Amino acid sequence: MINSNTAIYAVLGDPISHSLSPVMHNSAFSHVNYNGVSLAFRAKEIGKAISGIKSLGIKGAAITIPHKVSAMKFLDEVDDTAEKIGAVNTIINRQGKISGYNFDSVGAVRAVKDKTGIKNKSVAVLGAGGAARAVGYGIISEGGRLTILNRTKDKGEKLAADLGSEFYPLEDFKRVKCDILINTTSVGMEPNVDGIPVEKRHLNKGMIVMDIVYNPLRTRLLEVAENMGCTTIDGVSMFVFQGAGQFELWTGKKAPVDLMRKTVLKALGCSS
Ligand code: ATR
Repeated sequence: MINSNTAIYAVLGDPISHSLSPVMHNSAFSHVNYNGVSLAFRAKEIGKAISGIKSLGIKGAAITIPHKVSAMKFLDEVDDTAEKIGAVNTIINRQGKISGYNFDSVGAVRAVKDKTGIKNKSVAVLGAGGAARAVGYGIISEGGRLTILNRTKDKGEKLAADLGSEFYPLEDFKRVKCDILINTTSVGMEPNVDGIPVEKRHLNKGMIVMDIVYNPLRTRLLEVAENMGCTTIDGVSMFVFQGAGQFELWTGKKAPVDLMRKTVLKALGCSS
């Protein structure tokens, strides 16, 4: 029951109406009998939104597009991992002191490790945005051999230099040998569901293929990869595992990961 002791959490982003963060966290709060609620706020000015969190005593927030980098300068402290990634996706308010964290990289790592090891594997990450930065960081910290591929050369080269990895233009994917392929671009996302970031003929059946896009859940990339016999990892895995990190930071309780996954799949209209 919501009452005056209810701990309030937010998700801050713009646009925000599609966010599955509230439904995921609310089901988890209620499952562990935690008196908390998560609400979505369309935040245009992240600095003002964070001031609001402080003054209203909101306990924490998920930070999403487009604020993951810009939010950092409004925080009282940023943990090591988030500092190294250069972005936050979670904040917590401890007696008026706002600290920032990033669970995107552990989320991605847990999603991959659910299916395969990372150490010494060749991992190709498509994209060079905020998500690629977090995923790439996670792969390097697990001992994977990372290659960044991106449409825009400058951006890709910059990320590769920051992470100490190799870089290839996206169109040169055929020259890259990888055990694990991770798409962090928006290619294949609603409404461009026919998009595929690399050509089918450059995939092979030994690859593990992961897409962080979860809308649709079965992207064209995953569909093609699955038909070729590749092991696939859908975008809900990373979303749920990063959410589990947020939940555990906020509540101090173990996250009910299976329930969170079921809730998100149901909200996406998928039965299992
Ligand atoms: P996020 O924070 O989710 O990573 P972002 O910072 O906007 O979002 O990054 C989006 C990534 O998807 C970028 O790497 C972008 O490539 P560019 O650097 O060339 O812009 C990539 N991307 C988006 N649309 C693409 C497309 N149609 N083809 C190839 N890459 C695309």
